[in-house]
Order: sequence, then C-alpha cells, then structure tokens
Amino acid sequence: MKKLPPSEFAKLSEKTRLVLAGRDPTDSYGFVNTPIVRGSTVVYPNTDDFMVRKARYSYGTQGNPTIDALLAAIDTMEGGAGSVVVPSGLMACTLPLLANLEAGDHLLVTDSVYRPTRSFCDKILPRYGVEVTYYDPAIGGDIASLFKPNTKVVWTEAPGSQTFEMQDIPAIVAACHARDILVMMDNTWATPLFFRAHDFGVDISVQAGTKYFGGHSDVLIGTISARTPELYKRLRETWETIGVIIAPEDAFLTLRGIRTMKLRLAEQMPAGIEMARWLAARPEVARVMHPALPDDPGHAIWKRDFTGASSLFAIELKPVSMKAVGAMLDGLTLFGIGASWGGYESLVLPFDCASYRTATRPSHAGPTIRFHIGLEDLADLKADLEAGFARLRAAA
Ligand SMILES: Cc1ncc(COP(=O)(O)O)c(C=O)c1O
Repeated sequence: MKKLPPSEFAKLSEKTRLVLAGRDPTDSYGFVNTPIVRGSTVVYPNTDDFMVRKARYSYGTQGNPTIDALLAAIDTMEGGAGSVVVPSGLMACTLPLLANLEAGDHLLVTDSVYRPTRSFCDKILPRYGVEVTYYDPAIGGDIASLFKPNTKVVWTEAPGSQTFEMQDIPAIVAACHARDILVMMDNTWATPLFFRAHDFGVDISVQAGTKYFGGHSDVLIGTISARTPELYKRLRETWETIGVIIAPEDAFLTLRGIRTMKLRLAEQMPAGIEMARWLAARPEVARVMHPALPDDPGHAIWKRDFTGASSLFAIELKPVSMKAVGAMLDGLTLFGIGASWGGYESLVLPFDCASYRTATRPSHAGPTIRFHIGLEDLADLKADLEAGFARLRAAA
C-alpha cells in the first residue's frame, strides 16, 4: 500500500476512498489504522521554532493526527473546502451559526428543525442580538418572500426531524445565493453518501456523526463541512478560538464507523423502506412518513435530489390512547425505546411535535411514533411489532 498524491486519490471511487482516507501505514509504524494520539502539549526542538510555532501540530486544542485522519474521511465524503469536528451533533448545528451570525442579523430556520437546534435559536441567539424566524419546510423558492435586508443565513434540514418533510434545497439555494445569504443544512438523515449537499450549493453541511458515521451508538460527535475556503477559514478560526476539541478516542471510533458506513446503509436503507411499506399496510396505521415511499408528499424531491435513504422514518397511528401506545411499545423485545438513531440496533420512540412548532401545524389525529431500523433480521422485527400491535388493540 502506498499513499497516493491527492490528484490520484480523488480519481478513485467513493467506496475505495472510504477505505483509504486518513491513513498512511508508513506514518503509523506499519499499523493499518492511524493511532489514537492523546496530548495537550507539543514540544519543540528549540526556542526559535517555539516562538513561531514551527511544527505540524502546535497544541492539543488545535488538532492532532487522529482528528486529521477523521477530517480526511469527512472531506472526501462531503467534497467541501474543509471541515471541523465537534463533541456532538448538536454543536455541529450551533457552531456554524455562531461562526457566521452577529448582532443585528436575521436567521430563517425550518419549522421541522431538530428540536435542540431550535432551543439554541430561541434561547441563545436572541441574547446576542440575532432575530430568528421559522418557516414552512415546504416553502421552496418562496423563501425569498421572507428575506429581510438583514437576513444572513437560512437553516435547512431535509427530511425534517420527526415529521420527515423534504425541502427543495436547489430552489432555496438559488433564492439565497441571489442575495448572498448562506444556506446551512443538517444533512444527518441522508449522510453525504446519499446527498452531497455542497454539490447542490449548500454552504455549510452538518452531520450528527453520532448517527450513521459512528454507527454503533457508542460515540457522540458532530462534523461541519464548509463549501468554500473563505467559509472554512471562518469555521476553523471559530473552532480554534472557542476551543471545542474532541477526544481522540471519539475521532478513532467515528473513523472506524465510517469505514463500514456504506455497507451498513446498503443493508439499512432497504430494511427501512420494507418496514415502512409493511407498516403502511397495517390496519392500525393512518400514515407513514418516509420520503422514499412513492405516495409520500416529499417523494418527487427525494427522487430528484437524493441517491438513497437511511432507515429512520415515522408513522401516525389511527386515533388511539397513549395508554395503548405504551402497551405496544413497552412490551417490545427487540426495539429499544430511546432517542438517537443511526446505530446497528432498532429503536422506537413516541413523539408529539405539535406543541413546539410555530410556522406550521402538523395535523395528527392519532399518536405519532418514530422508528429506526437496525441490522436485525426483518422477520424478527416484524414479529416483535406484530405482537406490539396485538397489545395496542387489546389496550385500545
Ligand atoms: C437531525 C439531528 N441533528 C442533530 C442531532 C444531534 O446529534 P447529537 O445527539 O450528537 O447531539 C440529532 C440527534 O438526534 C438529530 O436527530
């Protein structure tokens, strides 16, 4: 194995680049993986070098070889000008907003945004003089009607958290770029493997790497990729100045997850679609929210822009009591009841987004439930749910 020059590396297929990115055995004593480098202090050979910080790494908060190995893998997937990694997916949402907004600016945020990102926009940004407006995720190019002279950033997330509305990203980007407004996207659901956000003009692409990148529910991490060198410079400067370094073990685990992410998603995408179809045919289910299903309102956009789907989706049950929902979910043996997703295991959670949405009112007659499909056998998962539906009917 020989390290390829960047121009040769770039010509390889994505599948091969995900195996090679960020490792050079000649630089790691011959071992396959870039090792975990722990450290705060970097020592210099002499005073002159220290005075000008003449070294590949200058101090632990400015990065280290394990983190750089992860960044190489992120850059090859995202295709941006550069990226940074932070200790959670939530911080991957908040840091680019901090980096690019200032007092007096106006921010537009999709009403379907991940709820903790919304809390940041509601609780922290106004303290720094930033005005926030929520918009209908289906707005498309009409986003321009909400622009103010001080609008600086439009935040997108597609499909949206919990309710899975698709967004017309190309139309939003066109409207924003005509006015020098930045477009940021939480692209965790599709991952850069199924939606290369920068190729569609998105300026800042965010991943909760906690999900499919890590893939094993054992790491919290966020990644932020910038489309242009200027945006990357600002992002990196903010990252260094704030001091949000991640533990090298987390970088190592995330990189290890990335090596097999394509394989996991190749298994989980059809499993998620098959489970969504199976649920859609159940008499207890009123509606399935999954953009890869042909009758989903976001299907045309999904088909046009995305090359795949992850295994997270939601359903609306026909009207039934929460007690019955509890009876269904509490007795499941394979599905865990819990937040987060993107790991190898199946998860389920009840949710109600009607209480906090402000620009749109999702109309659910019955309770809503989110599913994440893992790597278990689908027949086993269906049997688990089949028994759950029997409990639901019995408790109704
Ligand atoms: C869409 C989305 N973005 C961001 C996050 C935040 O990731 P983390 O849990 O790593 O903070 C989540 C977590 O569930 C999420 O679902």
